[in-house]
Amino acid sequence: MDATYPRVTIGVFDSGFGGLTVLRELLPLIPGAHYVYLGDTARLPYGSKSRATIARYAVESARFLESHGANHLVIACNTASALALDDIRAAVKIPVTGVIEPGARSAWAALASRAMNQTGVDRPQDHLRPDHRDVLVLATQATVSSHAYDRACTALGLRAVEKACPLLVPLVEEGWIDHPVTREVIRIYLTEAIGDGTPNVVLLGCTHYPLIKHAIRAALRELGHSIEVIDSARATALVVSHGIQNRIDANPSRPDASFECYATDSTEKFARLGSQFLGQPIPQVKLLDLGG
Ligand code: DGL
Repeated sequence: MDATYPRVTIGVFDSGFGGLTVLRELLPLIPGAHYVYLGDTARLPYGSKSRATIARYAVESARFLESHGANHLVIACNTASALALDDIRAAVKIPVTGVIEPGARSAWAALASRAMNQTGVDRPQDHLRPDHRDVLVLATQATVSSHAYDRACTALGLRAVEKACPLLVPLVEEGWIDHPVTREVIRIYLTEAIGDGTPNVVLLGCTHYPLIKHAIRAALRELGHSIEVIDSARATALVVSHGIQNRIDANPSRPDASFECYATDSTEKFARLGSQFLGQPIPQVKLLDLGG
């Protein structure tokens, strides 16, 4: 480590493996950083738990990452971002980025760029027609009940319809990514969510859903809605990189990105399933006991 320019360490937290999709985006964007990833797999799913429990678990995890040298924290878990961001910020002394606002902004950007292409104007915000502002948010039950995405979308002049899809996390955890049961469950959820309406964009408000993005797109097409499906991983990584770019660029001889992973349950399962989310092998996972 360069003593003059201490290396930036970014803590990435999720209830499980899904947040590795955010780490996957961060690695090439901020290559000079060291990453410490924590998946609280022993206590997953967060999405069916109460706000108090989610906040307690998330704060414990955030404190662990801070004590392990993180000088920036990314809450990659949508449920923890939706319900516990204020608690986490109050509990640690380092900057904290959640995924809700970047996700809502990426929905806005998708709609705005489509409006720009259709109208040829360069001020798309003026041309988002009232009937082109509907965002269908798919998320866990806890995230939907918090209405965090609704608030973030409303602040940007968008309308959110929030749909809880509680069966999708266990299906992805089971590895049923390309499976008829998963396809059928997606079709049922989308049919229930859309009804007679026509969303303009679908926002994946859960870490696990990017893995079944292709199935969600296919189901939407079958239901007659060829609309864009977006997730917050890239948008969140961009927000983090803008926030710390100066510190990274200050290091003249920056090393390649490095990462270490902690899990609170089976390290073997984390390495096996997590590599699908990260898009590369995870050579070593350390077991962590955060208590009950
Ligand atoms: N990480 C959670 C999220 O993004 C999904 C898994 C869980 O329910 O813990 O909402």
